[in-house]
Order: sequence, then C-alpha cells, then structure tokens
Amino acid sequence: MTADSIDSEARSGWEAVAEEAGTLRARVRELPVATASRPADLRAEVERRFPLEAPMPLPDLVHEAAALLREHAVHVIHPRYFGLFNPSVREAAPLGDALAALYNPQLAVWSHSAAAAELERHVLRRLGAALGREGDVATFTTGGAEANLTAVLAALARGAPGWEQGGVRALAARPAVYVSAEAHHSFVKIVRIIGLGTDALREVQVDGALRMDPVALERRIAEDRAAGWAPLLVVGTLGTTGAGVIDPLPALAEVAARAGAWFHVDAAYGGAAALVARLSAVLDGIRAADSVTWDAHKGLSVPMGAGMIFCSDAEALRRAFAVTTTYMPSAAADEPYAATIQWSRRAIGLKVLFALAETGLAGAGALFERQVRMGDALRERLLARGFRLLNATPLPVVCFTHRELDAGRVSSTDVVGQVVGRGRAWISEVVLNGRQRALRACITSFHTAEADLDVLLEELERALLHPSP
Ligand SMILES: Cc1ncc(COP(=O)(O)O)c(C=O)c1O
Repeated sequence: MTADSIDSEARSGWEAVAEEAGTLRARVRELPVATASRPADLRAEVERRFPLEAPMPLPDLVHEAAALLREHAVHVIHPRYFGLFNPSVREAAPLGDALAALYNPQLAVWSHSAAAAELERHVLRRLGAALGREGDVATFTTGGAEANLTAVLAALARGAPGWEQGGVRALAARPAVYVSAEAHHSFVKIVRIIGLGTDALREVQVDGALRMDPVALERRIAEDRAAGWAPLLVVGTLGTTGAGVIDPLPALAEVAARAGAWFHVDAAYGGAAALVARLSAVLDGIRAADSVTWDAHKGLSVPMGAGMIFCSDAEALRRAFAVTTTYMPSAAADEPYAATIQWSRRAIGLKVLFALAETGLAGAGALFERQVRMGDALRERLLARGFRLLNATPLPVVCFTHRELDAGRVSSTDVVGQVVGRGRAWISEVVLNGRQRALRACITSFHTAEADLDVLLEELERALLHPSP
C-alpha cells in the first residue's frame, strides 16, 4: 500500500462515520427506544459480521458495527429515553474524542502531553470556578465511581496516619464512611476495594424528603466513636441516583467538620446545576467540601466516561497517589500521574472541552436547563392526570405512583415492562428509602420535547388500564 492509498482508505472510513453522524439524530427518533436482544443470536451475528479472518475495509467496519449498535441497545440518546443519567450527545464531543484517539496523548506526564494536559486543566479550572471552587486540584476520571474512590483514598491519606505504609490493618481505629441510604452504590464497591469492608459503610437514615438526616448522622458518629470507630468521611449527594434529591450539604459539612471527617459531595449528576443560574441555591455547602465528584457524562451531555474530581487538599492527593520511579519525572513536580489512580490516561477532557466550547458554558447550562423545564412539564402533566409525585427536587428526576398501583391492581414492574416492551419510551422503577416502590422518569436528553412527554403519558395510561394477564 502506498501512503496515498492509506490516506484514501482512512478518509473513506471517516466519511462513513460522517455519514453515520449526519443521519443519526433523525434515525434514532424512528427507532424503538429499546430492543430485546437474545444473547445467543446476537453473539452469532457478531461472529458473522466480524469473522476477523480477512482484512475488512474501513467503511464496512463502520457500517457493520453501526448496524449492530442500532439494532441491539437501549438507545440512551433517544429523546424518549427517560432513564438513568445517560445523556444524549451533540456532535462536538465525539469530534474531540476522535482527536484524542488519533493523537493519543499520554496524560500520565505533562511533558508527554503538554497541550492535552493544559486543555484539560483549562476545562477543570472553568468548571471548578462554576462550582465556586477556584484553586482546587482537579483531574478527569473514568467516571463517578473512580472519582468517589479517589476521594476516599485522599481522605485516608489525610485522616488515617500510617495508612500509606501499613494499610488499613495498621490503623488504631477502624475508619467509618457515612453515606445516606439513598447514596450511590459505588461506595459499597469502594469500601470493599480499599479493604475497609462493607461493615465500615454507614447508611444514615433519610428524612421524609429522602435527604440525609444530619441529626441522625451526628448521632451515628457519636455511637461509632464510643464503639471505637474513627469517622473518616461523610458523603453528601447532590442529585441522588434514585430520586435526584439534594442532601442538606451545609448541615452535613458542619457535622463532618465537628467530627474531623473529610466531607465529600457526590455531584456526579447534579453538578450540572452549576451552569444554571436559577439552580445556584442547590450548590449551597459545596464550597465547604474537601472534594467533589462531577460527571460530564451525565448532566453535561458528554459521552461516557468523563468523570471529574475536584479536591481542595492537594497534599492528601499527593500522599495517596505520588510514587517515585526512575522512568517517570519526579512526582513532586505537579505531574498528572501523581494526583490520580490512573497511570497511562486518555485525554478524557478533550471531548468535554469540545462540548463546552461549541455552545459556550452558558449554552451548556441552557441545554441542562431545558431538561429541567421538561422535568417540570412532566410533573405538571402527571399531576393533571391523577398521578402522585413521590420526590421533590429541582432536577429533572420524577418519581411517581398512581392509585391503580397503590391499590395493587397493576404492578410497577408490569407498567415498566409494558412501556419499555412497546418501544416508544423507556422508564424504570425504583424503591425509595428501601420501602416505597415508584416509577421513575428522568429527562436526560436536550432533544426531549413536550410531544415526547405526551407519548410517555399515553403509554403509562395504557399500561395502567390494561394490566398484563
Ligand atoms: C450519584 C452518583 N454517583 C456516582 C455514580 C457513578 O458514576 P459512574 O457510573 O460514572 O461511575 C452515579 C451513577 O449513576 C451516580 O448517580
């Protein structure tokens, strides 16, 4: 192959991607939101389409993979995917992501990736400022789970002297981690990963509005201290996974400070509120946190994974992650690898930069605000049609029930099964505070319009009136 033929082959591959990108939005709207794929059939189809025996032309690769992606998925980019926090994406972010893949900068070391490192730091500085957290050390992570793990490791580095050398076995008192009963379950994995075990995880009770109860937190901390535990970290959530609820962050910050514990805010989803002026009140207390998780791949409509951790204690991060090697520049010199779990790291921030630069920060906020308005419109419609709301949040997460459900004439599992099965919308069910079963619809797409809400209502009512036999 000549250099020219390689160039032309590459170009035809990119043209196939461009064709895909140019038609995707309209096409997805016409697709069922979810398909019910049969694993064995799909596996056989994958084998057939990708035999890996002879070279495949790039356009064919694109067409074959795109066909599978279209036919076998829950389309989280569909305007009637009322789902978990998986967003629709605009075209800018995938362009940035493609550039990151093409140039493949190595983010472990600043001098290897000077431009990529500084482009990322620029984004993190601007988003940090939007949170009101100028001056934080910040880094991109694969997602919210890694960002939360980073926070717990930094808390151990600061709050558990001797941990770096001796590990958790060397600690005089066993550290305890406080989350609300509605917090994200990444913390269950985290306490396992770091060797504390799930016994160290305290699920503090929530109040009637599903917010962590600061009085219950303080009481639990006192009981634990008396029993020989050492309170390590308190986690407040800004936008819980189930109900989008915002914990009382200022009060939790005070309790954490009195206990000498690290205060972490998991704003994986709700961080996007920082770009919406009328939601600024939900950030109250976030400045008091030692660290904050925020996922661009949730409220900022960036493709997965694009987590971020903001931390005010640079020394704690350094103690947790800096190592000395002969083959890397000194960790003392503000090197990226010295403030993160990862080593070789993709330039995750490029896609975030592209997303934010295409619209401007205000434009990105407007996309999220549009979802917030659709959330309000959905609540209005549900109330007007006799549904009952079960959560209160300014974020577009709506948990609800209906008298047919309350009376047991139909189950929420059946309603979800029918709605998802017919393919016109995707919703889920959730159990709030361990006891209240609810239907859950979250606006995750800036394409969702009022007409899409009407389709959802139609589907809900149809399912309620005609329970499956
Ligand atoms: C509040 C919250 N925190 C953390 C996470 C974990 O984020 P990720 O899936 O990006 O690891 C999620 C995921 O939905 C979440 O809702």
